[in-house]
Amino acid sequence: MNHTNQKINNNKEYFISEFQKHFDGIPRIFRAPGRINLIGGHTDYNEGFVLPILLNQYTTVAITPRNDYQLHVWSENMNELLTFSIKDLKPNGNWSDYIVGVAKELLDENFLLSGANVCIKSEIPIGGGLSSSAAVEVAIAKGFLSLVGNTMNKSKVARICQRAENKFVGMKSGIMDQFVIVQGKINHVLFLDCRSLEFEHISLPTDNIRFVVCNTKITHKLGASAYNKRIIECEEGVRLLQEVYPNINALRDVSLRQLTNLKNTLPNVIQRRCYHVISENERVIKSAAAIKQNQFALLGNLINESHDSLRDNYEVSCNELNIMVELARELPGVLGARLTGGGFGGCTITLVETEYVENFTQEISTKYEQKTGLIPEIYVSEPAGGAFELV
Ligand code: GLA
Repeated sequence: MNHTNQKINNNKEYFISEFQKHFDGIPRIFRAPGRINLIGGHTDYNEGFVLPILLNQYTTVAITPRNDYQLHVWSENMNELLTFSIKDLKPNGNWSDYIVGVAKELLDENFLLSGANVCIKSEIPIGGGLSSSAAVEVAIAKGFLSLVGNTMNKSKVARICQRAENKFVGMKSGIMDQFVIVQGKINHVLFLDCRSLEFEHISLPTDNIRFVVCNTKITHKLGASAYNKRIIECEEGVRLLQEVYPNINALRDVSLRQLTNLKNTLPNVIQRRCYHVISENERVIKSAAAIKQNQFALLGNLINESHDSLRDNYEVSCNELNIMVELARELPGVLGARLTGGGFGGCTITLVETEYVENFTQEISTKYEQKTGLIPEIYVSEPAGGAFELV
């Protein structure tokens, strides 16, 4: 079993000495956490609602300025140094795109970067659905902004990072990941309206319940292509629905009754995609209310419904995610389980009564390994705060 109860490594000297293995000088250090989404799967790019929390696992960027318009980036995870000219930044099809993409977006916004040495290290599993990519983007954005002495507002940082991912990496992701990574608050869940970007921090008492993350160890290889295909299907849904309801701009604006009225006219796949998004938005709103009223059994049911809809209507689950969820639901103290993140692999999130957490982590690991031959990773972490500078 691999059961990680994360300890936070906020040792500045450690990150400085790691940096100095590759570059001279004393860097500034920025840390950005990974995220899990309690509920609200694939609603963000449909201008809907989400309820993410942050994890105590971080991507760390150590950075010093250069004056020769060169960007030198060392990745501890990849064990690789890549160098770029600031004057000619383009996608490279590898890990550096997140960093180069953010630099390019900042330059396009007239931030006068003159170069940097960067050391980057991620504790967040890459491709595990915990938003390692958005964490890199936010940490590096904060690093670059520190070099030009700018304190940009948090929502704008999130937008710039999202654009970098959309344009440079080609993943047309919504705003959820970057937004919660800048705005998340310790021991709170973030209720976010992805259209207006209005948000509310809702206190998440963890005395009686815990959110346990189970990593299937299947990386979401289908990645960008399947994700972008879902976006196109939702856009098609909006286009067809607009023929009857001209005032709608996104699936966010459609009620279940309106959708049901057109059930027999929409192509089946499009109807199911729309049904998922519209019903999921309702579940997010109900979940936010349930958390406020400490109704965790209700929250668990909504989380279960979310997974079933992502599996059957939105079709973004996979065998291993379904096995992890089904095994979890059979264990004592479990109130609900679902896949979290984009899907096709990565992690599940399970709502477990605190007194059963120890038993749960042991049982789920053994049972998942017996069934799949894969050794999962289990993370039990308190909801963490947003990205910060280590001072
Ligand atoms: C990925 C994307 C997010 C969101 C989720 C699905 O994590 O980056 O923007 O769309 O998938 O909810």
